Amino acid sequence: MLNIGQPFQPLGAHVPDFSDPLGLLVHCHVRIEAHLDALERAVVQLVTGDEHELAAASLAIASARSHFAGPGVKHTADEEESLFPRLKRFSTDSDGAIRSAIQELDAQHRTAEAVHAEFDRLVDAAGPALAHAGLDVAEFELTVAELAGLYRPHIRMENEIVFPEAGRIIPPDEILAIGSEMRARRGMNPVGIVPPKA
Ligand SMILES: [Fe+2]
Ligand SMILES: [Fe+2]
Repeated sequence: MLNIGQPFQPLGAHVPDFSDPLGLLVHCHVRIEAHLDALERAVVQLVTGDEHELAAASLAIASARSHFAGPGVKHTADEEESLFPRLKRFSTDSDGAIRSAIQELDAQHRTAEAVHAEFDRLVDAAGPALAHAGLDVAEFELTVAELAGLYRPHIRMENEIVFPEAGRIIPPDEILAIGSEMRARRGMNPVGIVPPKA
């Protein structure tokens, strides 16, 4: 049985770097949640906003799309290619709870990819106009709600269950190896530690 503990928190108020990959993954979640919040505000602006708010909504939509297509994809790879395999390797997991959790998280990643594809399709169909005058706002609102409904419990499960378990069972040298792989995934030199872009 897995422990449900406090969310994994990086020490202090600093932005974690690649020497603290679990803290960095939590920091990535903060950024994802900020984009979800911005998309929800954008939905309201698209329905009721004036010209200025429509422009702000368009910028928020473009920014979120860019984040989920770039840093968001790398974040998923950090988990699926670097973290989850080590969790499975070092887990004693006699009741299979960690494997079940990882299986569920993997499936949610695939579902999120499908919803992002729908999100992109809707935005592309709206055309290049900043105000997204051609956007199907009702469909867009449903898609944003679907993304938020997927990500928020997913992030909670990772922050409160999976990452704390990883911190307990994965040896320190393997934790550092996760950070090194995350650096390499972003095209960074493995020597030294620099503030991350994602
Ligand atoms: Fe995830
Ligand atoms: Fe995550």
